[in-house]
Amino acid sequence: MAIVVRTANWHSERSTIRTIRETVFVREQKVPADLEWDTLEESAQHFLVFEDGVAIGTGRLTAGGKIGRLAIKKSARGLGYGAQLLETICEHARHLGHQRVYLHAQQQAQGFYSRSGFVVEGDIFSEANIPHIRMVRDLDSLSG
Ligand SMILES: CC(C)(COP(=O)(O)OP(=O)(O)OC[C@H]1O[C@@H](n2cnc3c(N)ncnc32)[C@H](O)[C@@H]1OP(=O)(O)O)[C@@H](O)C(=O)NCCC(=O)NCCS
Repeated sequence: MAIVVRTANWHSERSTIRTIRETVFVREQKVPADLEWDTLEESAQHFLVFEDGVAIGTGRLTAGGKIGRLAIKKSARGLGYGAQLLETICEHARHLGHQRVYLHAQQQAQGFYSRSGFVVEGDIFSEANIPHIRMVRDLDSLSG
C-alpha cells in the first residue's frame, strides 16, 4: 500500500474532504450537519490521506493551533494512518511556529491521542452530544 499524507486546499479539494467527513461524522457518528461545517473551514489548513491514490482520511489545523475533524474511513482504520496523519499535522504546526497544539478529543479516542503524546487538560464536556475532553501536546520535542 502506498500512503501519502499531505496538505489539502479547501477551495480545490473540499468535495473530497466533505465526502469523508460526511461519511464518518454525519452518517456514522450522527453529528448534525450544521455543526459539522463551521466558519473555520476557509481559514484552516486541511490535510488528506491517500491509500494507493484514493482519499481515505482527513483532518485540519486552525490558525489558533487547534487540530480537529480527524477522520479515517472505517475500512482503513487500525492501520496506523490516523497516527501518521496526526504526526504530519503536528509537524506542520511546528513549522508554522506553534509551540503547542490542542484538540477536543472524543472520549472514546483519548487513548489514540495519548499514544501520540497528547495529555488531558480539564474535564469532560459535551459537544455535538458526544463526550469530549481537551488534550494538548507540546511540540518542542519535534525537530525542525
Ligand atoms: C480516531 C481515528 C482517526 C483513528 O484513526 P486510525 O487510522 O484507526 O488510527 P491508528 O490506526 O493510527 O491507531 C489505531 C489505534 O488507536 C485506537 N483507536 C483508534 N480509534 C479509536 C477509537 N475511536 N476508540 C478507541 N481506540 C481507538 C485503536 O484501538 C488502535 O490501537 P492499537 O494500535 O493499540 O490497536 C479513526 O478511528 C476515526 O476516524 N474514527 C472515527 C472518527 C473519530 O472518532 N475521530 C476522532 C474525533 S476526536
